[in-house]
Amino acid sequence: MDTAAIVSLLDGHPWSRTVRVLDSVDSTNNLAKKQAREGAPAGTVIIADRQSAGRGRLGRDFLSPGGVGIYFSVILRPGCPPQQLMHLTCAAAVAMADATEAACGFRPGIKWTNDLVVGSKKLCGILTELSVSPSTGLVDYAVVGIGINCRQKPEDFDESIRNMACSVEMVTGKAMDRNILAAEMIRAMSRLDARLLTEKSAILEAYRRDCITLGRQISVVRGLSIRHGTARGVDEEGALVVDFDDGTTEAVSSGEVSIRGLYGYV
Ligand code: BTN
Repeated sequence: MDTAAIVSLLDGHPWSRTVRVLDSVDSTNNLAKKQAREGAPAGTVIIADRQSAGRGRLGRDFLSPGGVGIYFSVILRPGCPPQQLMHLTCAAAVAMADATEAACGFRPGIKWTNDLVVGSKKLCGILTELSVSPSTGLVDYAVVGIGINCRQKPEDFDESIRNMACSVEMVTGKAMDRNILAAEMIRAMSRLDARLLTEKSAILEAYRRDCITLGRQISVVRGLSIRHGTARGVDEEGALVVDFDDGTTEAVSSGEVSIRGLYGYV
């Protein structure tokens, strides 16, 4: 991947002025947050070929070897209260499905909230981080970090995730150019930025269409508690509405949700 190739594919797009591709970084989210604190504008994009300390949700590591994935972070500055951004991660997942469809010719599904999957395997993960200004109570910046598997063969994945992960090349069977997908990711994130606060219902409607969790039997893990139920819907804040087997219904917005039949959960 290289900056010049992505800039040329972006063909004058305003965000092409603020894209930077690095060979290696600890975490593109860490660097994007540092740049956001130093005043970098919305639309600043950092892409790395590898990460030495990639981070996933729930404090997990995100393995980020060189030459095979896209590790991507973008700074947004919506300037609203954080309560108005509950749907940001859902919006980012739809944007990534759009980018994958445009660049790679297939549309992944979304496992609530923010994994892109093909069949029963994970293609992409998203980590969103917000900073709120203590003086105004408004969001100072949001960093959306995306890691997508592109060129891996099954044997390239660590044994611990091999039967739960896939890559674009494993899906299409064709060699891919990561610059093309990176450029589509930038276009999709910029469209998201333009409609995030004004088209929330339409974004969530698109999310529901892509969400493979709906109608499935799931388990919700929070600390030591594990509850089983059926995923019934996604509400207007992006929370998963679950009919639990004990007869209660709740909107779940945190915790880990496993789907029966996916990622080895039986
Ligand atoms: C997850 O699946 O738990 C989320 C993974 C998010 C990984 C991306 S890679 C780019 C950005 N930098 C990071 O350190 N994490 C995100």
